[in-house]
Amino acid sequence: MTAALDYADQHFDQFVIQLKDLLRIPSISTDPAYSQEVRRAAEWIVADLLAVGFKQAELCETDGHPIILAEHIVDPSLPTVLVYGHYDVQPPDPLELWETAPFEPVIRDGALYARGSCDDKGQLFMHLKAIESYLAGGVPLPCNLKLLIEGEEESGSVHLLPFIEANAEKLGADVAVISDTAMFAADVPSITSGLRGMAYVQVELTGPNRDLHSGVYGGAVENPINVLAKIIADLHDDNHHVTIPGFYDGAQLLSSDEKAESAALPFDDSAWMSAVGVSAVRTDHGIPILQAVSAHPTLDVNGIWGGYQGPGAKTVLPAKAGAKISMRLVPGQDPDDIVEKLRRHLESVVPETVTLKFENLHGGRPVLVDTEQPAMQAAAVAMEATMGKRPVFSREGGSIPVVADFKEALGIDTVLMGFGLNSDAIHSPNEHFGLDRFRNGLESIIRFLDEYGRQGLQEQ
Ligand code: BES
Ligand code: ZN
Repeated sequence: MTAALDYADQHFDQFVIQLKDLLRIPSISTDPAYSQEVRRAAEWIVADLLAVGFKQAELCETDGHPIILAEHIVDPSLPTVLVYGHYDVQPPDPLELWETAPFEPVIRDGALYARGSCDDKGQLFMHLKAIESYLAGGVPLPCNLKLLIEGEEESGSVHLLPFIEANAEKLGADVAVISDTAMFAADVPSITSGLRGMAYVQVELTGPNRDLHSGVYGGAVENPINVLAKIIADLHDDNHHVTIPGFYDGAQLLSSDEKAESAALPFDDSAWMSAVGVSAVRTDHGIPILQAVSAHPTLDVNGIWGGYQGPGAKTVLPAKAGAKISMRLVPGQDPDDIVEKLRRHLESVVPETVTLKFENLHGGRPVLVDTEQPAMQAAAVAMEATMGKRPVFSREGGSIPVVADFKEALGIDTVLMGFGLNSDAIHSPNEHFGLDRFRNGLESIIRFLDEYGRQGLQEQ
């Protein structure tokens, strides 16, 4: 392993230059205009893997963007690690808020700025370069490795589960590892112990058969925006509790022990608030912020439209109003069930003056991971050796649907070993990734593979 660590250290600057090349490719999965660029990013990664001596790597076609499948078996008696990552990125909008262009990576104040620098190209790249450090450093990989790298994570991973099910045998592994989450804080290494799930819908209300003059018709013809605004406002009560009937049924909220564990983590409410520029928060019945953003269900409107949005005033009674609504879910809540509950609720409250169109866009199940499993302990050892501190286990509010799919389709747990920070502005303008964390992540992964490989040998 020392040779791999040395190689990584000596080639670090080169790794950053290569990562910049990958970040220049605008692989925005949700926008069909970029589908060739998404493919180009996938081809770039396959070429890189093969160039460093990874035994086998290929692009697999799906009905959407291609999935990369790669495999390097050293010795069938060694444990096998399945690495997952995504090479697609979120759209960069609003462009005018970027200090430098999203697909022209630059280093500023020790961080690499570009869309995807943290989520997830930069974090995925730590795995690719950890592998290279072994192979090119002249040391055999200490574990067998399989890689599953998709290009649709940011648009709902719709083709991934069928792919995993169809390739379950090929993907067989002892554990999965993902670096696509955040550290608890810059000086608090952490392993993510749970992620929220997701249900995402789009609703549209239609009233009259065309936009109308609001003076001629206003007062009698129902305004779909007025109706939508009221329905949305009523989705939370005065305690900021979601009002959809049955929404919390079965939801495993934190036990008193878990609440105490969460409260013991070094979380600073006022620093957290000032980092996002708010002076007050509103949580469900006033629960602590950390609980509310990591282990509690939510409902948020992600976008809303209708009527006139241009400059100045236009007197219009709009024909349509629409909204995109996402719900973050905790263990015990099922995305399809939650979507049906919302659908039934909306159908029961929408008045006869408008018609409702309801679409289920995508979802993902919540997960809790087993923190006692050997791979978790190997990750903890590796991170402590790298950063000098034992990592904490903490739940996070984001979603990575594949984690639940791995458990169900492959029967394996996932180690969520992330090196992002919430302040990295993922999905926002000026996304960045600190090079110190890139370095720590790379070293932790090199050490993790070694530690886990040795554990596997001892078990035999
Ligand atoms: N990397 C994030 C997930 C994440 C971010 C987990 C921060 C923990 C902390 C991932 O790329 C992402 O954004 N996922 C989507 C999933 C959704 C489209 C189903 C999310 O959480 O919104
Ligand atoms: Zn991600």
